[in-house]
This record gives sequence, C-alpha cells and structure tokens, in this order.
Amino acid sequence: MKQQFPTTLDKTNIPEHVAIIMDGNGRWAQKRLLPRTAGHKKGVDAVEEVLEGASVLGIKVLTLYAFSTENWKRPEEEVSFIFKLPKLFYNRLLDKLQKWNVRIKWIGELEMLPDTMQALIQDFEEQTKDNTGLLMYLAFNYGSQAEITSTVKKIATQVENGAITVDDITTDYISSQLYTGGDSTVELLIRTSGELRMSNFLLWQSAYSEFYFTDKLWPDFTKEDLYTAVEVYQSRNRRKGGI
Ligand code: FPP
Repeated sequence: MKQQFPTTLDKTNIPEHVAIIMDGNGRWAQKRLLPRTAGHKKGVDAVEEVLEGASVLGIKVLTLYAFSTENWKRPEEEVSFIFKLPKLFYNRLLDKLQKWNVRIKWIGELEMLPDTMQALIQDFEEQTKDNTGLLMYLAFNYGSQAEITSTVKKIATQVENGAITVDDITTDYISSQLYTGGDSTVELLIRTSGELRMSNFLLWQSAYSEFYFTDKLWPDFTKEDLYTAVEVYQSRNRRKGGI
C-alpha cells in the first residue's frame, strides 16, 4: 500500500470498525439513463476504492451491506444481477486483496443462498484466511433482526445442552455470539445517498456508533470521502453515556 496517509487525519484516533450502507446505485444509474444494474456494477468499483482507503488508514474491520434480507422484494432480474456481483468481485479483486493483505468473511443468512454462491463464499474465505491486514465482512442476505434471532436461538441451545448457564448470558457474551463475533462494536457507520435510516443493519453492533450521512451516491463514493467521514468522526466527542 503505497498511498500516503492523509495529513488531515490523526493517526492515533482511527475507528477500528467502520460499517457502510452502500446506497444509491439505482439512482446513480437512472440519472445517467442506464439500467439500475449498471449502478450496481459501478458500485463494485467504489468497494475497491474504499478497501484501498481503509487499508491506507489502518482501519481493522470494514463491514459492507451488499444485500439485505428485504432486497428479495426487488424485481427478479435485479436480484439475479446482484447475485452475480460476488463472482465479479472475486475475479476482479482477489489478486489485489491478497496484495493488500485483506481477509474476507461473509455474514448473513448464507444457507439460503444458491449452492454455487455458497461454494464461492467458502473459496473466497479460504483463499484469504491467512491475510492479517484489514478484515472485511460482506453482509449478504443480511438482516440484523435475523442475526439477533439466530443468536438468541444459538444461545438458548447452549443453555439447553448445559454448555453455559443463564447467568453466563452477559452483554459481552451475546456480542461474541453474533455473526461479527469479536468485532461486534462499530465505531463509525456511514450511509450514502442521503437516506437517514438503519435499514436493519448491525443494530446491536452500532449501539454507540457515530453516524455519518452523505448525499453522495454509492458509485461516486471515493477514498477521499472515506477520509472525510473519518475526519468528522475525529471531530466528535464520543462520551458513550459518560459526561
Ligand atoms: C443499494 O442501492 C445497493 C444495493 C442493494 C446493492 C449493493 C451492491 C453493491 C454496492 C456492489 C458490491 C457488491 C459486492 C458483492 C462486492 P439501491 O439499489 O437501493 O439504490 P437506490 O436507492 O438509488 O435505488
């Protein structure tokens, strides 16, 4: 990673975990009289940009919302196009991810995905598992309420099996059992395209997150925009319930 660390930022106050709701692909395409799918394709370029920027900053964990449990309601043609993006991402970026030392994990209701995609996910995770730099969680068929429901069931089963007792269920324990495991605290949550909603994304993990909303549409989002978001984060006084 040869990119310069931005002079506007304080190296000692970089958020460890940044999460992004990548919104506005459809509007980006419509503004150009292109099919919505062209916006999703361009969105992959923005993912590449942000991965590079996050690595320059030394962000440890980046979670990206690529497909939600509610996105199935979209026209079949659009859903099937979005389902082709992981392969495109894999073909285009695997070499770079290895070079940048990026590890990929997928989170969401993955068992509902087609077998071919599950195989790709496994392969992707396997190929990058020894990388020790940035960890990227790709949220695909993800919904926070589904994640919390599945975690509650997992913990209930552990109690039923005698692996833990009811008294072992603490906030920290629940955090550790979520899909994001030991990375269940998000410091900075970014949403593009001017929408001001959480849309069922990382509801538990963002309990104390700083929020950064921008009108930029996702395909136009650059690493400089990521740096600006981190600059705003650094300008805030994070009290986390204290004074
Ligand atoms: C939201 O924009 C975007 C999506 C539902 C798809 C997100 C996918 C990417 C950014 C590509 C990256 C994917 C991978 C697998 C790396 P929207 O369609 O809701 O836009 P709109 O609100 O303008 O209609």
